[in-house]
Amino acid sequence: MANVKFKVQPGGTIKGRIRVPGDKSISHRSIMLGAISEGATTVTGFLEGDDSLATLKAFQEMGVQIEGPNKGNVTIQGVGLKGLKKPNKPLDMGNSGTAMRLMAGILAGQDFDCELIGDASLSKRPMKRVTDPLRAMGAQIETAEGGMPPLKITGTGDGSLTAIDYVLPMASAQVKSCVLLAGLYAKGRTCALEPAPTRDHTERMLNGFGYEVISEKIDSQQMKACLMGGGKLTGRHIDVPSDISSAAFFMAAAAVSKDSDLVIEHVGMNPTRVGIVNILQLMGADITLENAHEVGGEPVADVHVRYAPLKGINIPKELVALAIDEFPVLFVVAASASGKTVLTGAEELRVKESDRIQVMADALQAVGVDALPTEDGMVINGGIQTKQSAVIQSHHDHRISMAMTIAGLNAVSEIVIDDCANVNTSFPTFLELINQVGMQVEAVKES
Ligand code: S3P
Repeated sequence: MANVKFKVQPGGTIKGRIRVPGDKSISHRSIMLGAISEGATTVTGFLEGDDSLATLKAFQEMGVQIEGPNKGNVTIQGVGLKGLKKPNKPLDMGNSGTAMRLMAGILAGQDFDCELIGDASLSKRPMKRVTDPLRAMGAQIETAEGGMPPLKITGTGDGSLTAIDYVLPMASAQVKSCVLLAGLYAKGRTCALEPAPTRDHTERMLNGFGYEVISEKIDSQQMKACLMGGGKLTGRHIDVPSDISSAAFFMAAAAVSKDSDLVIEHVGMNPTRVGIVNILQLMGADITLENAHEVGGEPVADVHVRYAPLKGINIPKELVALAIDEFPVLFVVAASASGKTVLTGAEELRVKESDRIQVMADALQAVGVDALPTEDGMVINGGIQTKQSAVIQSHHDHRISMAMTIAGLNAVSEIVIDDCANVNTSFPTFLELINQVGMQVEAVKES
């Protein structure tokens, strides 16, 4: 693949009305659940990014007829819980942790053997968090050393998984979803208890497909989701809202640059995803939600952001899981806010597409920001413009590429970001939209 560098010119005012692509988490799940349901599922607003396309292709390789995507429209002819076919080669999940971890849950319940592989970044990410509960349910899975991909899953045959009452060691929607999806194939009632609420798209969508998931609040933080194995899903229509995690880059951009005024339309506002809005508002951002309504079981709204001066804060721990993908760009916002911002309780950031604590600390320090990485977060003394130009490495991580692009708004000179083709995993139209609203960013291809 050709290397793509972003050359980001300093400054800019963010104005306009835009729509960002479909939600990545919901797009993955629409294919997975559509494939194992009975009857056809139609999807609109599907994210045509490399990650969700990897999921789509994997199900085609298991014999599922899928038409599209064509301008975000996809039609899936569901084969039912037991209708998947053995793929004739390893299934390549590319850069996507969500695809690998959720599909491991589905594949653990099949009667054929298969292998899940990924790119250089995914091949270094921990999978023990899903192989532990799956093995406890009776699945046979081999990994590379240290519990890393590839995952070799041995077919367990009809209904031989055992239900589990699993207490998650970390707040992870991917682990919760993996356990619930394996639970579809298990005898009895499977439950996942999470230490803090995480995105609940799997539970919402299963209910939407007519498969009952019961979620209950255990205390102020813990949530438990349960389902009975052996039921059936019925195909339906899914309207995917715009991804709040992609919108986050534009919210941040308008929040940090003087005189900005931006509307981002039709953004998914699921309460388990809105940490970015809450954190920006605590920092003093002027954000209003307009035209709030619901599409297919998920709340959406237009997000209106106008520039206002920002101040550093201690980020409340209960918001960490609700903004888990937004910290790269929140670190950039913190660098522009006056005073100190402190993040703790976010050690999960170290095992994302890159070590987002170290990589963002290095990137911000390279442009002259006072950013101190800690074991589970970061301390940033903000309020100044970046001091110098630099060449930043994205470390195969789309959110680093996009976050450091936004850093250009308060930079004194050009920022160059190396290795940006990865932006296509979640946000293929990022460059076009960021230039449309008022930044000057050029993509330079090198073969
Ligand atoms: C996701 C869950 C999150 C998030 C990832 C997508 C999902 O991961 O970081 O980008 O779709 O379930 P964890 O659940 O591991 O925190």
